[in-house]
Amino acid sequence: MPNHDWHVDNNSNPQTIVPVESDEAVISPYRLYRFLTQLDDILLAHSDDASRLAQIRPLVRSFLNESPWMMMQCPAPDPKRGWGVTKLYDEADYPLTIQLVSWNPGMTSPIHNHGAWGLVAILDGQERNRFWQPQEANQPMIQASEAILEPGDLITFMPDAIHQVEALGNDPVLSFNLYGETDFTQRFHYNAETSGTKPF
Ligand SMILES: [Fe+2]
Repeated sequence: MPNHDWHVDNNSNPQTIVPVESDEAVISPYRLYRFLTQLDDILLAHSDDASRLAQIRPLVRSFLNESPWMMMQCPAPDPKRGWGVTKLYDEADYPLTIQLVSWNPGMTSPIHNHGAWGLVAILDGQERNRFWQPQEANQPMIQASEAILEPGDLITFMPDAIHQVEALGNDPVLSFNLYGETDFTQRFHYNAETSGTKPF
């Protein structure tokens, strides 16, 4: 995989990160349950989200490198909605969700945060991420910057990072998405013209 890691802080500022190898021993084949167990260990050992994500990035890279089957599991985008989601893992009362997501080219998401730490790894296609910063009430938001993500690229988000994704190119964007526990009181859609929010 090409190696581009990004991290977006709570002010929606992205930074590039030099990827590091995972400390965890990889037993091949690297099964999903092993990945989940190692993920759980990281969450127990680290309480702040930035530290967790620093540990999770190399773990996800190891998992994706060992799991080519994931491409076969990705859903085709629904023809009407233009996107598809397969839940790879979602257990009640457990603070992790893993999804395989597809987007048709030309689809653009609302401006949003997640109210949870998150990680998105691009498996196929090309995706533009725009990063936005809200201003005072009724003032337009500022687009801080953007990043174009290619297959093999990986991006992590702090809970208040605000972004908007657009599927570029001619083929669907396929991605592996991992999220912590969502605080729904802090998860919003944003209005670019007014900096206003709506629950998401
Ligand atoms: Fe998002």
